[in-house]
Amino acid sequence: MQQTYMPLVESLRNYIEEETIPFHMPGHKMGRGFPPEIIDNIVGMDVTEIPGTDNLHKAEGAIKEAQLLAAQAFGAKDTLFLVNGSTCGIHAMIMSTCHAKDKLIVPRNCHKSVWGAMILADVKPVYIMPEYDSFAQIPTQVSVDTVRECLDRHPDVRGMVLVHPNYYGMASHIKEIAHILKSRGKILLVDEAHGAHFPFHPKLPQSSKDAGAYMWVQSAHKTLPAFTQSAYLHINGDEHSKYKVKNILSLIESTSPSYMLMASLDYARYFMVKEGRTRLDNLLCSLEDLKAEFEREYGPNFFSDAKWDEVACLDGTRLVLDVRPFNMTGYEAEYYLRHMGIQAEMADMNHVVFICTVSDDMDMLNRLFNSLRSLADKGAVYKTVQIHTPIFSKIPKQIMSPKDAFYSIIDKVTLEDASGKICAGMVGAYPPGIPRFCPGELIDNEGIEELLELESLGALLFGTEGEAHLIPVVEE
Ligand SMILES: Cc1ncc(COP(=O)(O)O)c(C=O)c1O
Repeated sequence: MQQTYMPLVESLRNYIEEETIPFHMPGHKMGRGFPPEIIDNIVGMDVTEIPGTDNLHKAEGAIKEAQLLAAQAFGAKDTLFLVNGSTCGIHAMIMSTCHAKDKLIVPRNCHKSVWGAMILADVKPVYIMPEYDSFAQIPTQVSVDTVRECLDRHPDVRGMVLVHPNYYGMASHIKEIAHILKSRGKILLVDEAHGAHFPFHPKLPQSSKDAGAYMWVQSAHKTLPAFTQSAYLHINGDEHSKYKVKNILSLIESTSPSYMLMASLDYARYFMVKEGRTRLDNLLCSLEDLKAEFEREYGPNFFSDAKWDEVACLDGTRLVLDVRPFNMTGYEAEYYLRHMGIQAEMADMNHVVFICTVSDDMDMLNRLFNSLRSLADKGAVYKTVQIHTPIFSKIPKQIMSPKDAFYSIIDKVTLEDASGKICAGMVGAYPPGIPRFCPGELIDNEGIEELLELESLGALLFGTEGEAHLIPVVEE
């Protein structure tokens, strides 16, 4: 191995030199969203707790003030800066509000950090299924009825964690869900990782602040001009709940939090209050026009509002293109676009997802849509992959808590041989993109057959290793 070589530095430099247009996180879009004041001073801002810079874990000065300003701007009683993404905020929300063995309603399509939190806090999940669009082949949102029925069956839950919006920008009926929970004395914790920009424009989905959530997290780095890993944890609970969250964060976050990240959280709030509304106005209008023009030529290819009962509305800044009419998969389209100088945020079997933010300008958007035209014209050279996958209909029996399964001695067995064993990981297929088996759940033949059938239809299995499909199970 060559010690004179810096492989990561090289690959990042290559990406910069390619001048690819980023439609992915972070929302500052390769620095475009930062003013010279930040860019010129960023290295100097990488300091530590010295007189004048305050201390995140005992904020009494500049950090405290910046957090208070953020709370006011985002509509919370209190806001805490996070330097390990929404992931640590989700851990802290659940760990601080639930006691060991408490029950919590958890949608099956939640982010893996929710499972992490359940393991850390020893919480018992009461899973609910989100609705599923079998044409698009993606889970959409949980319906209000599903939440109500779950509460009827499990009146002893502590509350619920809700993903709002999902990766595709689909917002839930958060206000109704919050109302039902509140009327039964339950708390609502929201993973609003993809919605940090929501409070700054009335045409965007409602933020958790409008619904009266107890706590919610937002990844500033996903949609605002802020550095990767920077996030906000907003609290509407009392002083005691804030004290508990802070205690947990002091356990799970670094004792040397990055001042670059915290400075970007302060800047993102300042910028959004000052210019967010105008910038979002321009972005939303431009995207509307560009989408309409594209669809006049190529037909309706973008996700549009009012299609799903369980979805309150869509985030107009999140562009989701169905590429099936162009005879290609989302993965092929993403690959092709990269060669055209456009990097998307992600692709699934049928779609490509682009993150557009206040840092994008008209030139970037025009280049994106010109590349999409080229993609649509080129489409026919690829082979169509059409698969039709159902969502899993069953939630398996929970034999052990996620925590006990996670900390057991783990064995690896092939999926075919796993019937009757207890799952120690998350195993599923993409699409539909949600786990069929979660930690602590009983693996049954029906689920194994469903997974193998999905794979034979072209779906990709996750949580399995190698061609033998080894999966982690609890040793007997
Ligand atoms: C829905 C959702 N929640 C939470 C997270 C975790 O956020 P972070 O990357 O800021 O830790 C992600 C990350 O992609 C996500 O998609």
